[in-house]
Amino acid sequence: MTRLGHPARTNYVILIFVALVLAAGGAFAGSAPKQPAAARASVPTDIRVESTPWWPTTGSSDFKQYVGSATCARCHQEKAATQFATSMAHAAVRPADSSQLKSHPDLVVQKGRYAYDLMTKDGKALLSVSDGKENTTKNLEWALGDASFGQTYIYRDAGKFYESQLSFYRRLQTLDTTTGHMEPKTLETAVGGFVSPGGIQQCFGCHFTASTTGNRFAPEQAIPGVTCEACHGPGAEHVLARTLDPQDNKETILNPAKLAPVDLVDFCGACHRTPADVVLSGLSRAGIINVRLQPYRLEKSKCWGKGDARLTCPACHDPHVQIVRDDPQSYDPKCLQCHVRKGARPSGAHRAVACKVATKDCVTCHMPKLEVPSTHTTFTDHWIRISQAGTPYPE
Ligand code: HEC
Ligand code: HEC
Ligand code: HEC
Ligand code: HEC
Ligand code: HEC
Ligand code: HEC
Ligand code: HEC
Repeated sequence: MTRLGHPARTNYVILIFVALVLAAGGAFAGSAPKQPAAARASVPTDIRVESTPWWPTTGSSDFKQYVGSATCARCHQEKAATQFATSMAHAAVRPADSSQLKSHPDLVVQKGRYAYDLMTKDGKALLSVSDGKENTTKNLEWALGDASFGQTYIYRDAGKFYESQLSFYRRLQTLDTTTGHMEPKTLETAVGGFVSPGGIQQCFGCHFTASTTGNRFAPEQAIPGVTCEACHGPGAEHVLARTLDPQDNKETILNPAKLAPVDLVDFCGACHRTPADVVLSGLSRAGIINVRLQPYRLEKSKCWGKGDARLTCPACHDPHVQIVRDDPQSYDPKCLQCHVRKGARPSGAHRAVACKVATKDCVTCHMPKLEVPSTHTTFTDHWIRISQAGTPYPE
């Protein structure tokens, strides 16, 4: 039941091989306590997690080391005020807190021979499905995705996890088949599909904070959404040190601002998938669905070269602020750092020529938005390039 297939964590043979190659190539330099060493090229996330004290999706930290974002907000008000409003912070919620379900408290849909009714009231979201003869009802426990395009629901049955057959889509303003799901053959599969224990653990690992701690998956304790500590790691040591002495600048928490460009893109790639994850999992040959894997696409751009700090993910998207949508001009200054204006001559590191065609709205032509089948949305191709209409999708 994989929507995109995170690289299987069982692929240890390849991973160990890659680790040995990297080690032999001296990819990792000496390491500081919190700041991981710089790598020359993208590294699979499993290896990052194994080889660094903290990396997003790490599951070995002790739950007691997590303090919660409200504590971070006491001293970092500005970052918190905007971060709490991002889609990432709402990557998971309890269904009763889902703004989509609040504004659609009774969703009624017919799909083939199945009738669906998703009722949200009194702090509960109940999904009933009927085939005309029989009827079944599940208590939805989590809503995944902020529905900037979609939202999928998770429920349990006899201790096993299931992903709802239907998801809410923003464009449709109602339910439709979850991306990657097949047509159901029985009433039970019409409600949802079984998710393996490994699959659900990864799913929570990217959409929640502290869902796996002490190497144990504990969905009940998980903090919904990508909160401060999902990226920076558990904060108890940092909070203690800074409370005792605000000037104490021992490295007590990971500051990704200090990462080299390749590492910083891999950092976001812990959840958005690193280029190495994409190649190892075969998604590099999966066609247009890999347009969702921004780190992989971005690093294919000529602009990226071997890595450039002006083109990392945070260079265009401050992770503490909601992404700028439908305002292409806001991205122009990013491009013009390297692509000189018409008439000027390129100089300095990694400088490049101006466009012969236009002077603004660069991303509208060079980062096209592509429709991905069965997602009811478009994704932005992060492979910055001259894209000619009618030419096939480049892999
Ligand atoms: C008691 C106050 C306090 C609390 C609580 C606190 N911080 Fe900080 N933090 C500071 C101070 C002071 C600095 C140094 C100045 C700055 O960068 O703002 C700092 C620096 C940082 C840095 C940069 C570290 C570096 O070595 O460059 C990060 C990242 C950070 N904090 C994240 C967090 C997160 C995440 C939380 C919650 C888990 C948190 N902080 C809670 C006071 C605090
Ligand atoms: C712990 C996992 C995780 C990490 C690490 C992570 N992301 Fe995300 N990101 C997500 C998830 C999950 C979503 C989907 C959020 C939703 O439900 O809409 C997302 C969505 C986004 C979006 C789209 C927001 C929208 O409105 O659709 C942007 C932009 C983004 N992330 C940027 C970044 C950047 C930049 C970094 C690195 C600094 C990063 N992410 C690291 C999990 C993560
Ligand atoms: C490896 C990390 C990862 C795993 C595993 C993962 N997701 Fe996501 N998910 C993301 C990221 C990153 C996004 C942001 C959108 C994008 O770029 O595709 C996202 C987007 C979504 C969205 C759409 C969000 C929106 O704003 O519209 C839904 C729904 C979703 N995921 C549900 C799930 C479910 C359910 C599972 C597990 C069964 C799962 N995801 C597993 C990282 C992950
Ligand atoms: C999606 C991942 C992500 C989340 C969630 C996140 N951060 Fe960050 N944070 C980063 C990255 C990447 C950087 C370095 C790049 C930058 O400055 O934007 C950073 C930098 C920082 C810094 C140091 C800034 C500096 O100037 O050196 C502080 C302090 C900080 N974050 C606090 C927080 C707090 C507090 C929260 C929660 C409210 C939070 N972060 C949530 C990824 C994240
Ligand atoms: C870090 C510097 C840098 C940034 C930032 C940057 N580029 Fe580039 N770009 C380059 C370099 C260097 C080349 C390659 C020049 C060459 O080899 O001919 C290039 C090549 C290109 C090409 C030609 C690609 C091809 O396949 O021939 C396009 C189009 C382009 N960039 C557009 C953009 C746009 C649009 C942005 C902003 C979204 C951007 N670039 C941001 C440095 C950059
Ligand atoms: C040169 C600037 C630039 C860089 C670098 C960049 N992005 Fe984007 N990103 C954009 C633009 C432009 C959009 C589309 C905004 C809109 O919807 O109008 C976008 C959209 C997104 C979205 C929303 C989904 C979509 O496809 O539209 C996500 C998620 C995202 N970026 C993640 C990332 C990640 C992760 C990285 C690092 C690998 C990254 N971005 C690097 C410019 C950039
Ligand atoms: C209306 C669509 C459009 C917009 C907007 C646009 N470009 Fe272009 N760009 C093109 C096309 C088409 C080409 C290919 C021209 C050719 O091959 O003669 C091109 C070529 C380029 C090249 C390759 C130039 C060369 O001589 O190799 C670069 C670099 C580039 N654009 C950067 C940018 C930047 C930076 C911006 C924003 C300031 C931008 N473009 C805005 C359509 C556009």
